[in-house]
Amino acid sequence: MKKQTIIVTGASSGIGKEIAHHFLANGDNVVINSSTAEKLEQVYQELGAGENLAMVAGNVSDKSTGGKLLATAIEKFGSVDVLVNNAGIFETKPFLEVDEAYLDSFLNTNLKGTFFTTQAVIPQMRKQHDGVVINIGTPLVNHALGGVPSTAPMTSKGAIHALTLQLAAEFGKDNIRVNTIAPGTIRTPMHGGKADQSAGLHLLNRVGEVEDIAEMVYTVAKSNFISGAIINVDGGIAAGHNLN
Ligand SMILES: NC(=O)c1ccc[n+]([C@@H]2O[C@H](COP(=O)([O-])OP(=O)(O)OC[C@H]3O[C@@H](n4cnc5c(N)ncnc54)[C@H](OP(=O)(O)O)[C@@H]3O)[C@@H](O)[C@H]2O)c1
Repeated sequence: MKKQTIIVTGASSGIGKEIAHHFLANGDNVVINSSTAEKLEQVYQELGAGENLAMVAGNVSDKSTGGKLLATAIEKFGSVDVLVNNAGIFETKPFLEVDEAYLDSFLNTNLKGTFFTTQAVIPQMRKQHDGVVINIGTPLVNHALGGVPSTAPMTSKGAIHALTLQLAAEFGKDNIRVNTIAPGTIRTPMHGGKADQSAGLHLLNRVGEVEDIAEMVYTVAKSNFISGAIINVDGGIAAGHNLN
């Protein structure tokens, strides 16, 4: 399989870290990012600090971070074949308590981070007449949960789903594929050790692991004809729920 260059945002933890590991293990070049330089440096070492790995610390909501990721990928590896917009945050707060700063924190990291990082790399993918953008969404944008007040993160993720379809339409003729993978509850530091409390939300009655998402990201990246798709890797959350 052709060696590719992958940019993964939010790769210092959880799903993003495993995505980086998966592509590296399969022989690709990877550029990792997260906003905390020390955390990123530690994961850079953990992933082997090899020739096929580079890192760029920076907040994805800052437009210049996408530019730095692109420049590093081109300088070190000569192309950008896959962008995985994985950096994201999640918290709960009742709707009536959400103020503008709180809402902005989700719109900035989740939506604008995905928007601007993609804007930075698409010109290069256009030049290559080849590229794949994979966003990370959630099936919960179409399956709301009472008792989990999450209007701020959900509206930011819903916008990512909409962005995915629009980008797939706008750049399909340039041979750029754009897709979203929507994970169910995945055991990551985001859940602070409490992921299993959500097991019952899934038809499989268990939560997912980071490998489940990394494998699907890899499959979509290496495929040839998947575009504009929202792909649930969610143990059945989107399909239904248990009454017990
Ligand atoms: N875990 C789940 O159950 C689940 C379910 C559905 C969707 N997701 C989505 O999957 C993605 C990864 O989640 P996770 O569970 O792996 O979370 P995680 O373990 O908390 O990792 C989040 C990563 O994003 C980085 N990050 C956060 N804000 C950033 C910013 N502004 N700029 C750059 N990097 C930033 C964090 O590093 P720094 O702190 O160093 O910035 C970290 O590397 C997120 O988009 C999340 O919404 C997760």
